[in-house]
Formats: sequence, structure tokens, C-alpha cells
Amino acid sequence: MNTEDLGNSKILNLLFKPAGMMMGSRLRRRLLDPLKTLQGADIQPGQTVLEVGCGTGFFTIPAAQLIGDQGCLVAMDVLSDYVECVSKKVQSADLRNVHVIKRDALDTGLDAESIDKVLLFGVIPFPALPLSRLLPEMHRVLRPQGTLAVWLFPISGWIPKSIIRSGLFTYISKRNGVHNYRRC
Ligand SMILES: C[S@@+](CC[C@H](N)C(=O)[O-])C[C@H]1O[C@@H](n2cnc3c(N)ncnc32)[C@H](O)[C@@H]1O
Repeated sequence: MNTEDLGNSKILNLLFKPAGMMMGSRLRRRLLDPLKTLQGADIQPGQTVLEVGCGTGFFTIPAAQLIGDQGCLVAMDVLSDYVECVSKKVQSADLRNVHVIKRDALDTGLDAESIDKVLLFGVIPFPALPLSRLLPEMHRVLRPQGTLAVWLFPISGWIPKSIIRSGLFTYISKRNGVHNYRRC
């Protein structure tokens, strides 16, 4: 399925459009501080960071602030509504270091070894993002010393072992609920 078909798929739209309200809700913000969570990913100023499945941008604006003017955040989602929503937020915050793109994360079209850090925040496990295809693509776009940061919903405890078992990443640490891996 190409990006256009995936973005228009009924299942994805049915699932995520109502979820959009929850993603940016005040309750979520009270329960989960996005900046503190992102600090667990050890984002450094000046880095080039890929955020997979940015949704309504809960993590996007604080991530852009951590990266600073010299860095670059590629915020990616497959749903047009979310891409538009995040683009508006980025414009109103006058952030010049964010590129919001509509793309399937399984086939990003990004250059090989062009990214310092990938953020998989609240996006796995999900049928449209099978690890068997997502991890090789993330490995391809990451620089040799690049890192993968994964924030999971509490029910996804088996994911960290699956990432290690892929043989593509080694475990570094868990900080503020974020699992960090280095590209092998
Ligand atoms: C549960 S939401 C999480 C959004 C955001 N990371 C957050 O925590 O608020 C998952 C997001 O992944 C996106 N997504 C699902 N499959 C995708 C794919 N193959 N490529 C890019 N984005 C995808 C969905 O459209 C949705 O916005």
C-alpha cells in the first residue's frame, strides 16, 4: 500500500481521528509531561531527529525546542489531517527547524544515514507499523552512531526485547520511561 492509500484507509482514519482529541488533551498533559519524557531520549541541540507518527504534535513542539535553531526535526505522519494540524502548530510557534511530512514510516524516502535520532513515541505496537519492516527502515536512515528512542504505552512490555532480538539495535538505557538503543 502506498502512502496515499494508507493515509486514506478507512481503518486508520476510524481509529486515529477520534484518538486525536485524546492525544492532545489536558488530561494527557497532566499525566505525562512531554518535555520530561523527551528528556529521557537525550536529544542534543543541533541534532537531526525523525519523529515517526507525530499525530497531533504532542511531542513535536517540545522536541523542536530541545533541538534548537541549529537542529532539524522531521515530523512524519501518514494522515493528512494530522500533518495539517502539526504544520499549523509549527507555524504559529514560528519554528523554522521542523519539517512536517506526510509519509509512510515503512518507506520514508529519507536518505540513508541522515538521521541522528529516531523517536518512536506512542506508535508501536500498531498493525500499520510492523517491527519487521519498521526497524530495518529506521536502521537504514540512522547514522552509524545514531540512536532510537522508544516511548511505549504501558501494555507493550514485550517490545523492548523484540527490538533487541531484531539484531539491528543494542540497548543503552531507560530514562523517564524512554527506552534508548544504539544502531548496530
Ligand atoms: C497513537 S498515535 C500517536 C501520536 C503521537 N506520537 C502521540 O504520542 O501523541 C500513532 C500515530 O502514528 C501514525 N501512523 C500509523 N501508521 C503510520 C505509518 N505507517 N507511517 C507514519 N505514521 C503512521 C498515525 O496516523 C498516528 O498519528
